[in-house]
Amino acid sequence: MLSAQLSKFGRPEDAIELVELPDPGEPGPGEVVVDSELFPINPADILNLEGNYGAVPPGLPMIPGAEGVGHVAKLGAGVTHVKAGDRVLLPGPGTWRERIKAPAGSVFALPGRVDPRQLAMLRVNPPTADLMLHDFVAAHAGNWVIQNAANSGVGHCLIRLARQAGMKSVNVVRREELLAPLRAFGADVVLLDGPELDVRVRATIGDGVLPLAIDAVGGSATLRLARCLSDGGTVVNYGLLSGEPCMIDARETVFRNVSLRGFWLRRWFMETPREQIATRYRELLSKVADGTLSVEVEAVYPVRRIKEAVAHAARPGRSGKILVSFTPA
Ligand SMILES: NC(=O)c1ccc[n+]([C@@H]2O[C@H](COP(=O)([O-])OP(=O)(O)OC[C@H]3O[C@@H](n4cnc5c(N)ncnc54)[C@H](OP(=O)(O)O)[C@@H]3O)[C@@H](O)[C@H]2O)c1
Repeated sequence: MLSAQLSKFGRPEDAIELVELPDPGEPGPGEVVVDSELFPINPADILNLEGNYGAVPPGLPMIPGAEGVGHVAKLGAGVTHVKAGDRVLLPGPGTWRERIKAPAGSVFALPGRVDPRQLAMLRVNPPTADLMLHDFVAAHAGNWVIQNAANSGVGHCLIRLARQAGMKSVNVVRREELLAPLRAFGADVVLLDGPELDVRVRATIGDGVLPLAIDAVGGSATLRLARCLSDGGTVVNYGLLSGEPCMIDARETVFRNVSLRGFWLRRWFMETPREQIATRYRELLSKVADGTLSVEVEAVYPVRRIKEAVAHAARPGRSGKILVSFTPA
């Protein structure tokens, strides 16, 4: 079977290679074999290919990928909650391969009529946005939330989830051409990042309560968000897009009681009971199904063009996610 593989860190398009690996074989009792259909390339995947993701580098060679969607191909003895042909989220990690054998408990049937491209992006970004919005400060209707990299996949999810919770969002981007599309998508306020962001935010939201800032960028961008918060507010940092450590100063932390926290979805998976995780996904799945959660896709590449796909995903200024397909066009 075909698989993408990382054997040596480097430029994403150099680091990734397509290899033939042995088929995973027949499922044992309580197992399924899933045929992969589609997966997205996320910023974490790019960092991983470069050798820059996380505190501990993974052992090599490895198969990248944290998410995607596919179909149940084979069922082992005793598996009754899914049937052959059901569309399921790919069991991960290591989703960038044609066929995956996994415990049947790690898959559940997805509804038939939902766009598979959106389902392929369900596992990572929707819960990230949802958990950051609800699990750090009380999400009161009428309050504001501010985020940077607001045109990202997480950013799009956060805009819609905030709106559903009755909150209003200030969305910070680095490109002027994003202002109008994000407003059309449901963002209450969209501003360009840069000097005096706090002054521009206050000029727009007046004395509105702004207790939560969601930071994907780090570096001085963290401080710009912190300055926008109401006293006692929380910055949640979840990304390293600038490659710089988060900056925050005593004026915010000491005199205004602003705090800086971190979020990592993998920790949530490790620390949360399975039934709670399943409940959260059921809720998010219903929001994907009804169109509340929807992320633009800029291109879908066949897996044989994986090198072009990762190079494209690593480029700035995309209008949406890059997906890779195992299905012939
Ligand atoms: N901590 C966690 O558990 C967790 C979970 C999910 C995602 N994440 C992180 O969340 C972030 C967004 O992920 P995604 O999948 O939503 O992204 P995405 O849809 O692939 O979009 C990438 C975004 O990053 C922006 N960007 C790239 N470099 C930047 C820089 N130097 N300064 C400011 N913005 C920059 C892009 O802006 P342009 O369009 O202007 O290029 C775009 O908005 C990533 O850092 C990812 O690693 C973290």
